[in-house]
Amino acid sequence: MSKVLVTGGLGFIGSHTAVELMARGHEVVLVDNLTNTRAEVLDGIEAISGTRPVWENVDLASQPACAALMAKHSNIDGIIHFAAHKAVGESVAKPLDYYQNNLGSLMNLLEFVRTEPKCAFIFSSSCTVYGQADDLPIREEAPIKPAESPYGNTKQIGEEILQDCAKAYGFKVIALRYFNPVGGHPSAKIGELPNGVPQNLVPFITQSAAGQRGALKVFGNDYDTRDGTCVRDYIHVVDVAKAHILAMERLVAGKVEEPVEVYNLGTGTGSTVVEVLTAFTKATGIDIKWEYAARRPGDVVAAYADTKKALEGLGWRAELSLEQSMADAWRWQETLGQSV
Ligand code: WQD
Repeated sequence: MSKVLVTGGLGFIGSHTAVELMARGHEVVLVDNLTNTRAEVLDGIEAISGTRPVWENVDLASQPACAALMAKHSNIDGIIHFAAHKAVGESVAKPLDYYQNNLGSLMNLLEFVRTEPKCAFIFSSSCTVYGQADDLPIREEAPIKPAESPYGNTKQIGEEILQDCAKAYGFKVIALRYFNPVGGHPSAKIGELPNGVPQNLVPFITQSAAGQRGALKVFGNDYDTRDGTCVRDYIHVVDVAKAHILAMERLVAGKVEEPVEVYNLGTGTGSTVVEVLTAFTKATGIDIKWEYAARRPGDVVAAYADTKKALEGLGWRAELSLEQSMADAWRWQETLGQSV
């Protein structure tokens, strides 16, 4: 059993990862300052796992607060670092907030890891680092393209910081590049909790289905794809969570040779926006009102993962279908009722 610090542990992927860690017998300490989630998520984690994990309400971008936190939990075996601002559009409007928060919190945590090189470290990265890849499916060796947003840039710079620090201070890191995590826990006790009007496709779909939003705007139907709409690799959040457990166990077992190992987390299948809408209706019986609209600046045409390396290195592959993701996303939305 390991003791794992999960930053952003009350967030979407963080909470699902905490549940999977606890199911595998690991002890978790959740760190979250609620900038993009709600304290009630802890109740959901407890309802699923039967244990209420320790929750530290700490702003990791504050160096003294982070140092105090790490002094209190210095006996941890690993850190899974999810905590970051993650709204692409918002990052364009508020770049300094994103650089200070996302990179500041990472560096404050690394001040601890450099003194405890045996502490396993997993970094929440994103397929955004690839930009519009030249070849599909996207392999981990694909060139990193100039970031389309400050958000994507914080992920690219974060990986560079980790490369330099892991080499200099002798610790090991696994960086996981998520494609599009969607869905919710099958218990419907935790799920995605976007603040305000959802920027991402699936929470907008579920809120539209719940009558909380108007018609969905499909951003562009003149792309060079099967039906003219963008292609993404939508992966169930529980599959994403399970990959983190395997990555943590790989690090703690000392199996990582390179300073930083990088893995794509995707299903390997691309779906167009219209295909996601069709899958939602098939899974729930609910027709979504939608209309074509102008392209969204910054969108890449298509992105889906090459999954070979994650299977070989982590022994992991996605198991849940797009329809299962839609069904679980909807059941979670139904528990939210009118609260948005
Ligand atoms: C998916 C597709 C839109 C909303 C971003 C980040 C990524 C990760 C997930 C944090 C696109 C279309 C969307 C809508 C639409 N973020 N769409 N109408 O942009 O692929 O990924 O969020 O971890 O790092 O880059 O996800 O869900 O916003 O968009 O047509 O109302 O749905 O154009 O083609 P994206 P998304």
